[in-house]
Amino acid sequence: MQNFIHDAPQQRVVFASGAVSRVVDEAKRLGLMRALVIATPGSGARLGQQVLDQLGSIGAGLHAEAVIHVPKDVAEGGRKVTRDTNADGLVAVGGGSAIGLAKAIALSTGLPIVAVPTTYSGSEATPIYGTSEGDRKITGRDNKVVPRTIVYDPDLTLGLPAATSAASAMNAIAHCVEGLWIAERTPVTVAYATEAMRRFGDYLPRVIANGKDTEARAQCLVGAWLAGIVLTAGTALHHKLAHVLGGLGLPHAETHAIILPHVTRFNIAAAPDARARLTDALGGDPADVLEKMLRSFPIPQRLRDVGLPEDRIDFVAQEAGKLGLTVPRPAPVDDVRTILKAAY
Ligand SMILES: NC(=O)c1ccc[n+]([C@@H]2O[C@H](COP(=O)([O-])OP(=O)(O)OC[C@H]3O[C@@H](n4cnc5c(N)ncnc54)[C@H](O)[C@@H]3O)[C@@H](O)[C@H]2O)c1
Repeated sequence: MQNFIHDAPQQRVVFASGAVSRVVDEAKRLGLMRALVIATPGSGARLGQQVLDQLGSIGAGLHAEAVIHVPKDVAEGGRKVTRDTNADGLVAVGGGSAIGLAKAIALSTGLPIVAVPTTYSGSEATPIYGTSEGDRKITGRDNKVVPRTIVYDPDLTLGLPAATSAASAMNAIAHCVEGLWIAERTPVTVAYATEAMRRFGDYLPRVIANGKDTEARAQCLVGAWLAGIVLTAGTALHHKLAHVLGGLGLPHAETHAIILPHVTRFNIAAAPDARARLTDALGGDPADVLEKMLRSFPIPQRLRDVGLPEDRIDFVAQEAGKLGLTVPRPAPVDDVRTILKAAY
């Protein structure tokens, strides 16, 4: 028997082609009169402007300054603009970076967030927030930062480059793979992880082959949502390793993608139920299929390609090893070092 506590925050989810036009109604539903749009610069800003236009008279402005891992000064800048514009709510448009900045603002202001996700990272479905200061990444969880409403519009993802699609989806897949063997899993999160893996297995290769494949885009976006809920339950070796590597400046989603096949190969035999579910969803040995997916994607393949100095492998192994992880099997320093060398 597996004991569990299921504690998923409540959220309203609107999913439809063209749903971006409903953001204004969803913001009004939350009582917003001055909604500040948060986005990343560049293509993110263009999407942000599109949403600000939709908001019309209840739009308070566009703040397109989000940066990966929400550096402290970026969070402070976002809070200042929130005060200056007298915003009463946030509309985060983009990937985990835009949603992360909105979460940092919500953490200190309590303002409600409407999330309009355009990648597969899944942050919109979690109470997890993160900020960074230099090399130090601080994460925490607070239900205040959970977006009240998520508006998924697959049409907004049609222009997401293949590399960002692949990397953010592998990040979501990692939530699911690990979610199938963590001690904190529940019957609900296991079902969600299994369903998300089936969708990613069938449709992610189609998205990478043709980014304009609307059906495949929609299926992966559903997978991302489910993966975010799975992540809320907890994490194990994979995410701990990614966290330590992220602290050394390695790119978030790409690092997840690179180490996932290796961590899966290490853990899978100790998690028979996860193995059965993943084998069924992916149509083959999970570690082999994940490795094949990674190889076929236009993203970095090895830790050496994303800037890990070889002489830091031992430090990362020590950091992860000292956590004393035991589920689904013990992960002592020597084994973690072997995983990292294989990924290097
Ligand atoms: N808190 C959580 O639960 C959680 C979960 C996963 C990831 N994260 C965080 O999310 C961040 C990474 O997020 P990400 O992987 O989604 O990437 P991202 O948000 O950094 O976006 C990557 C790039 O893609 C661009 N982009 C996004 N959507 C686009 C679209 N539809 N079309 C064209 N360009 C688009 C962005 O402008 C950006 O340049 C990290 O900081 C990570 O720590 C948080």
